Amino acid sequence: MQDNYNRRIDYMRISVTDRCNLRCFYCMPEEGVCKMDHRDVLRYEEIIRVVREGARLGISRIRLTGGEPLVRPGIEGLIRSIRSVEGIKEISLTTNGQLLKDMAADLKQAGLDRVNISLDSLVPEKYKEITKGGNLKRVLESICVCIETGLKPVKINVVIMKGVNDDEIEDLAKLARMLPISVRFIELMPIGHTLQRYEDHYISMDSVMKRLPGLVPVDKVQGGGPAVNYRLPGAIGTVGFIGALSHNFCHRCNRIRLTADGKIKPCLHSDLEVDLRPALREGKGELGDALVRAIELKPQRHSMDNAGGIEGSRDMYQIGG
Ligand code: GTP
Ligand code: 5AD
Ligand code: SF4
Repeated sequence: MQDNYNRRIDYMRISVTDRCNLRCFYCMPEEGVCKMDHRDVLRYEEIIRVVREGARLGISRIRLTGGEPLVRPGIEGLIRSIRSVEGIKEISLTTNGQLLKDMAADLKQAGLDRVNISLDSLVPEKYKEITKGGNLKRVLESICVCIETGLKPVKINVVIMKGVNDDEIEDLAKLARMLPISVRFIELMPIGHTLQRYEDHYISMDSVMKRLPGLVPVDKVQGGGPAVNYRLPGAIGTVGFIGALSHNFCHRCNRIRLTADGKIKPCLHSDLEVDLRPALREGKGELGDALVRAIELKPQRHSMDNAGGIEGSRDMYQIGG
């Protein structure tokens, strides 16, 4: 369906849980993580009802997110059910890669097409520090297993932060020289609690690109997401840039988000939400009408740049990126 600004909305990001097995400092607060009540979290049958209704309105691509989607038991079954919904052409997943190595084959078999994996450092101790306990080796093994399993294209998400991992830009980009992957550098976004540390760590995409001479623009990489993609001389893979602040991409936005507790967020950076639970659980109103309302509410663009950030009620782990 088209929104009020002639954008075609065909992509739904579904956060299946707010739980995570890591605790990246820009995504989750160190203390006071507010966990959703289990009763509020949509059951898989409810998610499928939303997907069916979305597909009827023109949603053809689904991305599963979290928290960490792979910590929710039975995710393969959800993927299998989504696969059987008429109109759904692609299912992808965004993960921190800690559990992926052992699950990749089953996920692929269930019908998952591709994965985006978060990886902010190639230095084991630093990776552990950023993620509060993550194991770098497991992520690297997961990347290899996904390439072998055919969960392609594998995309790597690097949130680039001054004083944290900006000394690794060249090394991280080198991964795409050697492997058939897309390494994407992401500008830190001031969302929820991140707003407090944002000024210290934000780096613009232009400064990152300056560190990688010889970038040649490439045609679209599968996905239609916010990244702009390039290839480095002699590289097998690509390097992408997601600059939500310095290179606004709202004019080509194609997505809505379903939170784990059943709210549609028309925009990542707005507190606007449409609650689907009355339609899903209490028979109040039609689910399809609620989805149409959410798409009609999509703002033209975010206002992070002129407001200095949005101190919304949700942190990133409660939205899924
Ligand atoms: P594909 O292009 O389909 O592979 O996915 P993607 O890059 O959109 O998804 P992913 O979950 O890997 O997100 C990568 C980064 O882009 C994360 O930091 C997200 O928060 C950010 N992102 C995704 N969609 C949006 C969006 O609509 N607006 C903004 N500002 N950031 C987004
Ligand atoms: N700014 C930019 N990207 C973020 N992510 C999480 N929090 C932020 C933030 N504040 C990224 C994660 C993951 C994706 C879902 O969103 O690194 O790759
Ligand atoms: Fe879309 Fe909002 Fe993201 Fe812009 S900020 S790309 S409108 S979700």
